Amino acid sequence: MNIIFDCDPGHDDAIALLLLGSNKKFNVLGVTTESGNQTIEKTTRNAINVISYLNLPYKVYKGESKPLYRDAVICDKIHGESGLDGFEFPKYTMKEEKEDAVSFIINAVKSSKEKVTIVTTGPMTNVGKALMVDPSIKSNIEKIVLMGGSIGAGNVTPAAEFNINCDAEAANVCFISGIPIYMMGLDVTRKVLVTDEIVNRISKINNKASEMFSKLMRVFIDNQKKVFHLDGAPLHDPVTIAYLIDPSVVEMKYVNTEIDCAKSSSYGRTNCDIPGYLGKKPNSYVAVEINIEKYFNIIEEAIKSYNFL
Ligand code: BDR
Ligand code: CA
Repeated sequence: MNIIFDCDPGHDDAIALLLLGSNKKFNVLGVTTESGNQTIEKTTRNAINVISYLNLPYKVYKGESKPLYRDAVICDKIHGESGLDGFEFPKYTMKEEKEDAVSFIINAVKSSKEKVTIVTTGPMTNVGKALMVDPSIKSNIEKIVLMGGSIGAGNVTPAAEFNINCDAEAANVCFISGIPIYMMGLDVTRKVLVTDEIVNRISKINNKASEMFSKLMRVFIDNQKKVFHLDGAPLHDPVTIAYLIDPSVVEMKYVNTEIDCAKSSSYGRTNCDIPGYLGKKPNSYVAVEINIEKYFNIIEEAIKSYNFL
């Protein structure tokens, strides 16, 4: 499966990268970065650090420094000063590629012999912009699998989830593009909580990957408790990759979803018309349920696969 992975690491983005690197079925064309959890400089450095630490053969393409029409925001209350607080990476010499993320996405999709699956775990700015610059790439995109949105409540406003709220216009470009959309929203990602028990279970694997997981997750758990009063850290982003590894991990509904881009308190809301009230054509598969046990088994197996490091 040809993949472009677009992310803003971010604790849970880092674990999504770990999952991606664990499975041979993914042919990763490149990793592109977004500003979101931290500035574009920091998320790009973080992507490079995780890839280098796990010895993954991926190239990194730096993305847009801000959303299409709005100022950049960061999420340091959850992800900290570095964007990956809790783990000290060695100093790696690897640098990002010269080509920027938007050009890379356009060129990589156009030149791919087989259709490309795009996975986004941050704001959708790079992909939205690539589709605006060259809409012809649509025909060679198999699907977009995103972590973002919510059928129910948001996590930055009553209506909106962080990734979509950062850049609703970019998300809208993707959702109206006609490309099949697979949305893993808060409705499922907030059910997969990393607890102390999960950290202890993973620590027992005792390899380089489990060490990174455990140290990152301890800080992630603390910050989620402080900010959201949650009894565990929602492991949002890896749901995208877990779904591609084993689609049965989530239950999806094929519905019409509209992104609210109005300048109101609902900005960034994903209006998923599950009951079909509006009678509009479905454009998205939206995750409505997740098998928690299966999910953490996938995470555990992925971490064990790094035993060779
Ligand atoms: C999303 O926001 C970010 O902080 C996480 O990395 C995840 O992608 C959850 O709302
Ligand atoms: Ca993210």
